[in-house]
Amino acid sequence: MARIPFVVPFLFWAAASTATVLDPPKSKCSNLSFKLPITHDSLVITSPPDPNNETQNARHVKATLGGAQVEVSGTQVVSGTFTINAIYCRPHPASHRRHPNREALQILVHGITYNKDMWSGLGLDDQYNWHAAANAEGYHTLAIDRVGHGPGAKTAYNGQSFPDPLLIVQSDFHVESIFQLINTIRDNTQRNVIKKKFDKIIYVGHSYGSFIGAALARLHPSSLNALILTGYSTSINLNTANVLSFVSPATLFPQNPSRFPHSQPKGYQAISTLSARKEVYFSGSYDPAIPPLDFAYLTDTITTGESATLIRTASVPVTGYTGPVMIVTGEDDYIFCHTVGKTCEEIMQDTLAGFFPDIEDSNKGYFVPPRTGHCLTLHYSVGETTREVARFLERFF
Ligand SMILES: *[C@@H]1O[C@H](CO)[C@@H](O)[C@H](O)[C@H]1NC(C)=O
Ligand SMILES: *[C@@H]1O[C@H](CO)[C@@H](O)[C@H](O)[C@H]1NC(C)=O
Repeated sequence: MARIPFVVPFLFWAAASTATVLDPPKSKCSNLSFKLPITHDSLVITSPPDPNNETQNARHVKATLGGAQVEVSGTQVVSGTFTINAIYCRPHPASHRRHPNREALQILVHGITYNKDMWSGLGLDDQYNWHAAANAEGYHTLAIDRVGHGPGAKTAYNGQSFPDPLLIVQSDFHVESIFQLINTIRDNTQRNVIKKKFDKIIYVGHSYGSFIGAALARLHPSSLNALILTGYSTSINLNTANVLSFVSPATLFPQNPSRFPHSQPKGYQAISTLSARKEVYFSGSYDPAIPPLDFAYLTDTITTGESATLIRTASVPVTGYTGPVMIVTGEDDYIFCHTVGKTCEEIMQDTLAGFFPDIEDSNKGYFVPPRTGHCLTLHYSVGETTREVARFLERFF
């Protein structure tokens, strides 16, 4: 009789932990392909690397990432039907009921040498899954492969081939293609394979994806209702390119020709070693099992066109856009919080003040996850990061 009070709580606890009644309800995800007609004035880069020479393309990426300027002789019209592959996740009905008016879509745009899979963690569990965290708050999520990236890149141009890495896969082309994607979803045209209209679009970028988002806000301010820039600042560690070297993914992963075929143009380059990827992307507090998995399963490419046009697209302050903007960058980010004599918080404040002059303070926010490197969604602090982003967005949605 006296023992019952001990037994009952124990059984109750055991039932709760094994039946996962404390977990948020699961969201539902599907793979989608948008086919979008896009016409764009691409930059014609003079003195290009020999398109068939791996060494020259690898050197070109490293040099331009390190700040070497390219000469441009004019523009050339690029036109075709481009495929944007995506993972779309919608909130579980229970999460939707808790936030019935939150009919907003988060578009998640990956950084360099990643693709849309970076937002799903590594399939380990939902701990590193941005979709799951955002869906639990009632948001819909769409993680896209920028054109030229992900397993579908090999047929992204007119359903047939890899887009030209130097002429097509450039920074402003990404801005234009994502703008067209947003128009398709806002207007709910036949090309909107979500088959659901969204009036509220939240852009979430990581690293280079954040540069693209900032440029999108500058060029098409009314296309976005909020901007979340992760792994980002305007204070860039120029030593980053020195620790990186590049190689064709077909050379790096010869055992996986269906993912990285030899026909992939040499202007698509991957980071060549696990140690370099780890040094730039991981720092502070993370599961040591993750960097090898990240290298093996999340490695994607950077193109010669992306690295050559990055500075042009990224160095112009965001005027015109006045909506909410939040910057989230890890305290130990090797690329973006590494300036001698400044704390990461000061770098965030300087970036917001200097680069977003038209935005009122009440629309600005930042968060610096402690003991966290560049790939902040693969660090232990990921729960704090998604919570702080949710708290910021709650003020507007
Ligand atoms: C999406 O496609 C990937 C790769 O083909 C597959 O592994 C995954 O299970 C698919 N996801 C869904 C929800 O169908
Ligand atoms: C590739 O370019 C490098 C550097 O310019 C050169 O040394 C090498 O001979 C070239 N390889 C081929 C196969 O042309």
